[in-house]
Amino acid sequence: MSPDRPGRELAERLSRVESRNVTFLEPAPPFWTEASGARVRDAAGREYLDFTGAFGVAFAGHRHPMVVERIRAQAGRLVHGMGDIHPPAVKVEFLEALTALMPWPEARAILGLSGSDAVEAALKTAQLATGRPGVIAFEGSYHGLTLGALATTHREHFRAPFVRRLAEHVHFVPFPVTPEQGDAVLDRVDELVGQATPVPVGAVIVEPIQGRAGVRVPPSGFLAELAVRVRERGALLIADEIFTGMGRTGTLLASDHDGVVPDLVCLGKALGGGMPLSACVGPAQVMDAWPPSSGEAIHTSTFLGHPVCCAAGLGFLKALQCDDLIARAARLGSLALDHLSKALAGREQVVQTRGRGLMLGVESSGHGAARTVRHALEHGLILLPAGGHGQVVELTPPATLTEDELEAGLAILVTAIEASGNAEQRPANQAVDKPPRHSSGDASELDRFADPSTL
Ligand SMILES: Cc1ncc(COP(=O)(O)O)c(C=O)c1O
Repeated sequence: MSPDRPGRELAERLSRVESRNVTFLEPAPPFWTEASGARVRDAAGREYLDFTGAFGVAFAGHRHPMVVERIRAQAGRLVHGMGDIHPPAVKVEFLEALTALMPWPEARAILGLSGSDAVEAALKTAQLATGRPGVIAFEGSYHGLTLGALATTHREHFRAPFVRRLAEHVHFVPFPVTPEQGDAVLDRVDELVGQATPVPVGAVIVEPIQGRAGVRVPPSGFLAELAVRVRERGALLIADEIFTGMGRTGTLLASDHDGVVPDLVCLGKALGGGMPLSACVGPAQVMDAWPPSSGEAIHTSTFLGHPVCCAAGLGFLKALQCDDLIARAARLGSLALDHLSKALAGREQVVQTRGRGLMLGVESSGHGAARTVRHALEHGLILLPAGGHGQVVELTPPATLTEDELEAGLAILVTAIEASGNAEQRPANQAVDKPPRHSSGDASELDRFADPSTL
């Protein structure tokens, strides 16, 4: 039997039952059947190293024993509760553990299941707290795809089909990567937050490092100054730490690198140790903009505070502490950055290697990143492209990665970059590779590269 056959069969079956927009099936992707730590196995029995942490979720690795143990125990007792009416007891335990880690003396949270849920909660909270519905977001931002969050997500690919349903009170400003750009953006923010019309601005939402835009790091001090400017004018700073938070960048929150304490923080991805769990967290004085529940909460959902997810979240928080994952992310990340900077020095197709902790990106010229991702996959390393044109190879591996695994993965990556650089130098009349469709790149851009003959 061909090694690809199980994947092709699953792809064929999926195409008959799932909306065609969802999973890109040509060629058939690896269908995951098992994962542990940084290793994944697919339906054909092939093994991979996962340097994506599955969208950054598996920061504590796939199936961390402390997470699995808590899930099992909870599943043996209570699988579903009534989150805001008869709450599962474990919700209290999880919220106590989470809020104790946050930078405010008295933190309050609203739980959700997805990152978008947390962003929706933060945007609503900011409006209640300031009375001002306007929002400033950044070009390149990704805050989720539900309608409220989508209004603050910048990429056209996601917005265009629904643009008439998106709130019009969101202003986009450039995301700076140099100090000069930072100064210009701060002036623009000042101007927009100061305007009373047409819709006054109550919040600025920012990813401390833009993830899906291609691991874009703002200049040092920018976030701190942004916080000052925003607060001077009575607005709130929302840090979307869904990707960067819970240790990924080598500090609990990426805002910590700049000494910034945001007014609201959105968490997700890693928080549930692999289970769907997110939170909008803030100091009591901001979160208390919500009225006390009268028995009919004005912001809740059926699965809020899901007991198995909360139990998994407790397992994740325990793993974070017991395995010293934050310090591990800082150490492994700087080893990786150092290694890549040396190994890739002088390579023409590499524009920049950057990032913090275990959130790294290698930006390539031309179509190099897409080729690199595909080449790496063929050699057992899972990567994702990021950036507006899918031009960045994004690395967000689990922090439980061993040094041997790190070394092995980086060796595959460097070889893949070299191979894609050689392919880049082929004569222009030879086929151009098509970036994988699950890239977070803009599809309209990706379609320009499409040449099915190369797949
Ligand atoms: C910074 C950021 N915010 C929000 C989201 C949306 O999270 P979700 O896909 O869980 O709704 C993402 C997802 O990638 C993200 O990276």
